[in-house]
Amino acid sequence: MRIILLGPPGAGKGTQAKLIVKDYHILQLSTGDLLRENRRQATALGDKAQTYMDAGDLVPDSLVLDMVEVEFNKPELDAGYILDGFPRTCPQADGFDGLLKNMNLQLDHVLVLEVPDAELIRRLTARRTCPECGHIYNLIFNPPQSEGICDHDGVTLVHRSDDTEVTVQNRLKVYQEQTKPLIDHYEQQGLVRHIDGTGDVQAIYQRIRNVMK
Ligand code: AP5
Repeated sequence: MRIILLGPPGAGKGTQAKLIVKDYHILQLSTGDLLRENRRQATALGDKAQTYMDAGDLVPDSLVLDMVEVEFNKPELDAGYILDGFPRTCPQADGFDGLLKNMNLQLDHVLVLEVPDAELIRRLTARRTCPECGHIYNLIFNPPQSEGICDHDGVTLVHRSDDTEVTVQNRLKVYQEQTKPLIDHYEQQGLVRHIDGTGDVQAIYQRIRNVMK
């Protein structure tokens, strides 16, 4: 199964992708996570991406497309995948369409998570993440048992540098201008399923399962 998860920053793409991965035995491919890992390892790509990410702007398409092309050639993805944060612009979607065509593969679903802006800002400014296992917490909705510490491995949680209110506002604007048009792109392919992304995490996941039946 090959799925794209679309939605604004904070819509719950990472949270829902982790649930889907467990049940459907496919891999999550998050371009945000890949770029953050490049930054952590101080690669040339990580250095180039840093300024864009900290400002809440998109990393240039050519850099992202080169990065994902390497990932798509990995045999681990043969069983299927869920894309979280890619594609994010029309050139990325066109590039990905071409890649799928060359590999003789098709997408199954494009899931669009819908959440109002005020809720997105509340979610993102309170997000904390485990840098070790990737578990996503929220100080308001889903706090860890001990403040600042991951329940699963005891590692100190991090607050993403792009989760400040000013940067989040820019990320929302960038989503409206550059990523939302992709909904039309995939509507034309008959792949889009709109999901109400508000309410309980498990209830949202159930909505996703229902549309994937
Ligand atoms: P990326 O890492 O992809 O960030 P994003 O798309 O902005 O999405 P987020 O990870 O912020 O949110 P999410 O939807 O995954 O929400 P989550 O589940 O964590 O990208 C970061 C940057 O990298 C970009 O700005 C760009 O610079 C660059 N980049 C990445 N990909 C790129 C590309 N393809 N092209 C160019 N540049 C690229 O949840 C958020 C919070 O809400 C958490 O605290 C969570 O616990 C909480 N939450 C989740 N669900 C609920 C719920 N139902 N109720 C209450 N709280 C909830």
